[in-house]
Amino acid sequence: MTSEMVAAVPTPPGAGIFSTSGTSAGVATAPGELGIPRQDGPPPVSHAADPRHFLGLEGLTRPTLLTLLADAAREREWLKHGEPNRRDLAGVTVVLAFIEDSTRTRTSFEIAAQRLGANTVVFASGASSLNKGETLLDTVRLFEAMGAALVVVRHPSSGAPAWLARQLESIGVLNAGDGMHEHPTQGLLDLLTLQDAWQGRFEGRRLAIVGDISHSRVARSAIAGLTTLGCRVTVCGPGTLVPADVEELGCEVSDSLEDALAGADGVMALRLQRERMETGLLPAISEYARLWGLTPERVDLLAPEGVVLHPGPVNRGVEMAHEVADGPRSRILTQVANGVAVRCAVLRRCADAIRRPHGFTAALAAAAASTSTSASTSGAAGGREGSR
Ligand code: CP
Repeated sequence: MTSEMVAAVPTPPGAGIFSTSGTSAGVATAPGELGIPRQDGPPPVSHAADPRHFLGLEGLTRPTLLTLLADAAREREWLKHGEPNRRDLAGVTVVLAFIEDSTRTRTSFEIAAQRLGANTVVFASGASSLNKGETLLDTVRLFEAMGAALVVVRHPSSGAPAWLARQLESIGVLNAGDGMHEHPTQGLLDLLTLQDAWQGRFEGRRLAIVGDISHSRVARSAIAGLTTLGCRVTVCGPGTLVPADVEELGCEVSDSLEDALAGADGVMALRLQRERMETGLLPAISEYARLWGLTPERVDLLAPEGVVLHPGPVNRGVEMAHEVADGPRSRILTQVANGVAVRCAVLRRCADAIRRPHGFTAALAAAAASTSTSASTSGAAGGREGSR
């Protein structure tokens, strides 16, 4: 995915939140904005009110989060046994529309959807008509018209999935990471990993998050989920990469990495985006590694059972030393494994919501009724993908 291609995705007119100023390659976070451009117009779709969509962890209740974690844990048990694919999502088409690079998220969504029996389509944005000026909204409307039930969207602009969800009639939108806003399935897999490491208890625990807080959708989802579940979060990083008003998210701030790590039950190192050097937010990678990189000595400041997380991809020797990434406290590959289970749970949640009477089940029933009427009169047969 080149920056030229990102720039080639037209910005929908009037979509204030869907602005290229919020791209992950953007500039410093404006104070008070936490990296999210202010929005004019109607409020975002509430994912809590409309479970067809999965747009963020912010606003999800504690019971909803715990239910999703329990569902994901059950999916993980099933996945472990290598059983044949299920049919939960049989007849459901899931389009994976990644308008920004991804390895873990895209692959695990695809595996999860296939294990549940869905038809999966990987939308190759680089070879698509986006490059001829077609908008993302028109593109997703095509998927909808083709009968897709769910679209998984990664986009460099904060708010893009929520904006799409507001425009579309029937398709469910799942956020696979939007600009500097949220990465909710990453947040859920982080919660699942910590729930296991912490024997199921979030209250009384503390996680340190280290690095580029300003531009991190991973941090934002983790803070939203963890604080809802009663865990304290301490953030720290270079002053240019920690928003002035970050406490408004419900976390604490430390100027010292050592203080943040001391006695914490875990640490999450964030990926350092190298483009920050170009925007002058960091003087040098070597200085970042010296001041903020996780070394074995620093990690030893954690509580005895404290664990190390990283969303990936890891810049070894920058955010953490090899010995930490591959050490006994590391849960990085556990996070990746949990990603498939979490995405199974989320896909099922959205697909189940779409099947409810106000969703496509009703549309299908109406279509079936009209088909049977016309079949009885003309002998024609019809139907639509997604029928079960
Ligand atoms: N953690 C994460 O989002 O990784 P990918 O960019 O590889 O999907």
